[in-house]
Amino acid sequence: MERFTINGGNRLTGEVTVSGAKNAAVAIIPATILCDDICRIENIPNITDVSNMLHILKEMGAKIRYVDRSTVEIDSRPIATFVAPYELVRRMRGSAYLMGAFLGRFHHAVVAMPGGCNFGVRPIDQHLKGFSALGASYSLEGGMVDVAAENLCGSSVYLDVVSVGATINIMLAAVKAEGTTVIENAAREPHIVDLANFLNSMGADIRGAGTDEIKIRGCKHLHGTVYSIIPDQIEAGTYMVAAAATSGDVLIKNVIPKHLDSITAKLEEIGVKVEEYDDSIRVSRTGPLNKCTIKTMPHPGFPTDMHPQMAVLLSIASGTSIINESIFDNRFQYVDELSRLGARISVEGRLAVIEGVDHLTGAIVKATDLRAGVAMLIAGLCARGVTQVEDIQYIERGYEDIVGKLRSLGADIRRTAVPEPSVPQAI
Ligand code: EPU
Repeated sequence: MERFTINGGNRLTGEVTVSGAKNAAVAIIPATILCDDICRIENIPNITDVSNMLHILKEMGAKIRYVDRSTVEIDSRPIATFVAPYELVRRMRGSAYLMGAFLGRFHHAVVAMPGGCNFGVRPIDQHLKGFSALGASYSLEGGMVDVAAENLCGSSVYLDVVSVGATINIMLAAVKAEGTTVIENAAREPHIVDLANFLNSMGADIRGAGTDEIKIRGCKHLHGTVYSIIPDQIEAGTYMVAAAATSGDVLIKNVIPKHLDSITAKLEEIGVKVEEYDDSIRVSRTGPLNKCTIKTMPHPGFPTDMHPQMAVLLSIASGTSIINESIFDNRFQYVDELSRLGARISVEGRLAVIEGVDHLTGAIVKATDLRAGVAMLIAGLCARGVTQVEDIQYIERGYEDIVGKLRSLGADIRRTAVPEPSVPQAI
């Protein structure tokens, strides 16, 4: 087992390039199941969520060929099963998209209840509501979801909650259905637009992605395509916060600044300088940080996936800040770990109340999920002394070469082995 060891205190300076978006990639890869030819996907991030998703497709018969480090060709035509392997699927949230993709192609899907980071209950009722509206029936048995339809017919679906996963899954199932599907109260995240653009590049007819009403006119065939995934909004936001936390000066390249608006606005509010260019953004800080109040919201609101990172920054700001978590009820697992470094945070219902301290001090902590894990890295970078972050497999699910990228910015971080617990010697 390995962990990250950080000697804190170095200012981050220089340039870093953001990789392709994880949450777009984990939707686009299963979407290739709907294609009647080969798809070449560029700007694929080199992270374990992507390699796991590719592995699942391969196990089911797809042909996968890496053209270079960030370009992959997927031929999903040989897939002849709509049953997804239980052990691989149940750990990944993105594997839920196999349901929509199988349903679209085979009119039948048998997929394990999706896993992913543990933020409390993560239901799929809205996904199933959408499939039902298209004419499918479903059952749940032995941890598997079985969804089947004689015919898939376009229909209107109003989502009771704004759900990224449900919006994507319904799009996947509807793209080859007969007639037109309308998703109302749809999620508007950048990766939803990216999936729609990918499907449209194969001949689909999807309009309105990025608004709360998406219209999908079903089609019979989807042809092969070459498509480049958008940059990862949350990876970019994470480097923005890391630059601010270390009083650094970092040019973050390969970003879409518009996707970062809510993060930029909060950083500026608390005293961080952000300069936007066409496809890069520069973040620097020379003065103290001010307190603020944040409420996480669906896009274009402040993303829940940036909550733990911002909590680190606010823990060294002056005054008392509040983060109101409106998306996931259990996103506060980072709090106990961050407290080990001296942060003063209390959780009251859905609020994290953060009393700023002068500085954090290094400690041994663990990553409890992907974003909580990367928040511990940021905490370690700005803390005094040495921080060790364990359970780094969570971080590697979503951040490509994070050690290499941070080191290139001047961080003192390395991957080290976790020593085996010593066994007492018999005398
Ligand atoms: N919800 C329901 N019913 C459903 C689906 C969702 O009640 O059928 C609720 C959830 O419990 C939650 C809210 O709706 O309270 C939003 O959940 P959503 O479906 O939007 O989340 P998700 O699709 O499970 C994706 C990302 C998450 C990200 C959220 C919110 C992927 C693979 N995952 O999850 O990403 O936090 O949207 O933006 O796209 C991450 O990257 O670290 C991550 C966790």
